Amino acid sequence: MTSPSLSHIALIGAGNLGQALAEGLLHRRILPASSICMTRHRTSLLEPFARQGVMVTEDNHVACRHAGILLLAVKPFKVREVVQEMAPSLRPGHILVSVATGVPMNDLRQWSGGKAEVFRAMPNTAVSIGESLTCIARDGGDDSAFQTVHELFDRLGRAVEIPEELMNAATVLGACGVAYALRFIRAMVQGGIEIGFDAQTAALIANQTVRGAATILLDGNLHPEAEIDKVTTPKGCTIAGLNEMEHQGFSSSLIKGITTSYEKIA
Ligand SMILES: NC(=O)c1ccc[n+]([C@@H]2O[C@H](COP(=O)([O-])OP(=O)(O)OC[C@H]3O[C@@H](n4cnc5c(N)ncnc54)[C@H](OP(=O)(O)O)[C@@H]3O)[C@@H](O)[C@H]2O)c1
Repeated sequence: MTSPSLSHIALIGAGNLGQALAEGLLHRRILPASSICMTRHRTSLLEPFARQGVMVTEDNHVACRHAGILLLAVKPFKVREVVQEMAPSLRPGHILVSVATGVPMNDLRQWSGGKAEVFRAMPNTAVSIGESLTCIARDGGDDSAFQTVHELFDRLGRAVEIPEELMNAATVLGACGVAYALRFIRAMVQGGIEIGFDAQTAALIANQTVRGAATILLDGNLHPEAEIDKVTTPKGCTIAGLNEMEHQGFSSSLIKGITTSYEKIA
């Protein structure tokens, strides 16, 4: 058998996240469609990708022969079965990156027979537009293989290396975080409608304002409170609104929501 190619990537279990990963790879032009392989049972659901030239198959062994980088995106309870099924097709040089919540690298290495370099990653759904924050973890492993994984997720947004024991926390803050942020935006839109905007205009204002606020912090590596100080005139309407939100438990409810998600995941 020829060595697996690192210039080919397979999405094993191309459901919601697997498809978002494929969209990101195509959107950011990281690979041509012909270098991407996607697997799932119901391959007819991947027809839009097949039409673009992506290889679509039910057969995870075909994917292993096609690609050197295997991104495993099946549900956590399916991981053991799928990795054990793939094991005979894994070769030294394969890189297996699991995005499944809560499945330790130790288990992945054992089930895969120790031939592939094993890592974990926790992207979020913004990976589809190349704007994910992806936490990645290693447990030893080959430096250049890890570098390859880090670069891949950097090109799909931003990647940050974390210890494996923080992977559950990464799931909450980074992956569930998308939902928290969207709920915040929805509330902002509802408030906007109440003070006079139609829904479409309120959504545009809220979406772009949130994007701008996040970009200010990211680009300048700034603390939110320093930026808040710049928009809070003494006795003004911003500080009055912010303080009322805090009286109503805004920060507290967000923090409690995050810790509740974390307790649930643990
Ligand atoms: N959604 C997120 O925001 C997010 C973020 C970070 C991490 N994750 C992790 O990503 C993983 C996938 O989540 P998801 O929401 O994308 O789930 P999902 O939509 O259910 O996708 C899982 C896919 O796995 C496929 N599958 C099942 N058995 C398979 C097999 N033997 N071989 C190949 N494919 C198989 C299923 O395809 P068929 O139905 O056709 O069998 C399904 O499309 C989970 O482990 C989750 O913890 C999700």
